[in-house]
Amino acid sequence: MSFPHQRPRRLRSTPAIRRLTAEFRLDPAELILPAFIREGLSEPAPIASMPGVVQHTTDTLKRAAAQAVELGVGGIMLFGVPLLRDATGSASLDPDGVLNKAIRDVRAEVGNELVVMSDVCLDEFTEHGHCGVLDSQGRVDNDATLEIYGQMAVEQARAGAHMLGPSGMMDGQVAVIRQALDEAGFQDTSIVAYAAKYASAFYGPFREAVDSQLTGDRRTYQMDAANRREALLEVELDLEEGADIIMVKPAMSYLDILADVAAMSPVPVAAYQISGEYAMIEAAAANGWIDRRRSIEESVLSIKRAGANMILTYWAAELAGWMKNR
Ligand code: PBG
Repeated sequence: MSFPHQRPRRLRSTPAIRRLTAEFRLDPAELILPAFIREGLSEPAPIASMPGVVQHTTDTLKRAAAQAVELGVGGIMLFGVPLLRDATGSASLDPDGVLNKAIRDVRAEVGNELVVMSDVCLDEFTEHGHCGVLDSQGRVDNDATLEIYGQMAVEQARAGAHMLGPSGMMDGQVAVIRQALDEAGFQDTSIVAYAAKYASAFYGPFREAVDSQLTGDRRTYQMDAANRREALLEVELDLEEGADIIMVKPAMSYLDILADVAAMSPVPVAAYQISGEYAMIEAAAANGWIDRRRSIEESVLSIKRAGANMILTYWAAELAGWMKNR
């Protein structure tokens, strides 16, 4: 009689066997590179809390997009940092504003070879840093914000974005954007809905990346980390409103949410490995505390395993390069 009867270790015994039996593997086509462009720069500006990530100039953004195409990356998500901000974020509606111009420039560079996505949110454009406009008492005014989102979406679609990413967590934002797009003739522009987006401390480095003016927090509109069931409500609402793709964000502290959403969503599911997740791994690796490459690969693979069909990650290009050379 021999023990044990079952030996799962057999399938772990060589790299080739492990490769053959892997349940999940990453592909560059499912990665989306978030990228920042800052108005008025003559050189790319490093972001201290995100080593390796920069605020781009037009030139370096176009180069990054072209490189993403070469590497087989699936998409790029654009965020703009304007020179001037005001109470209503009006630079977001300017066809020549930093983000709309960046969309045009990137589309001219990549055509349809890369899915061009853009952030529909006011936080980069408002002087107070909130994702919407404020009412007379300083609260974020949901419905007044929706009106602007609709116009912003149309400008981004006109600039050439294939997909729009409303990230502001206003109630009804997907419906308003869908209607505005359809009325303007952009029936084919898709919506990647930030559906389950949590108020997270891990967005910290992003605030530096977009030079955020925010004081306080976003807890009156982004979800509470204590809630799991509520994510399904947010997703169902966005689906009803016409979301083409559903996003969960952040990713790593919310893999349970991602798994829940992946189990019920009839549309593709995206997850955003955010700035703080990037920063933590880079910082630990820089200290020699973890193996950088293995930690990056493991972290992104875990997001895929939890159910993401596509992953936004600041390592998208680097990961794609590793996959190419594998
Ligand atoms: C809002 C937005 C944020 C991020 C993406 N879109 C910031 C926030 O909600 O506070 C964060 C992304 C990251 O941390 O990498 N426009």
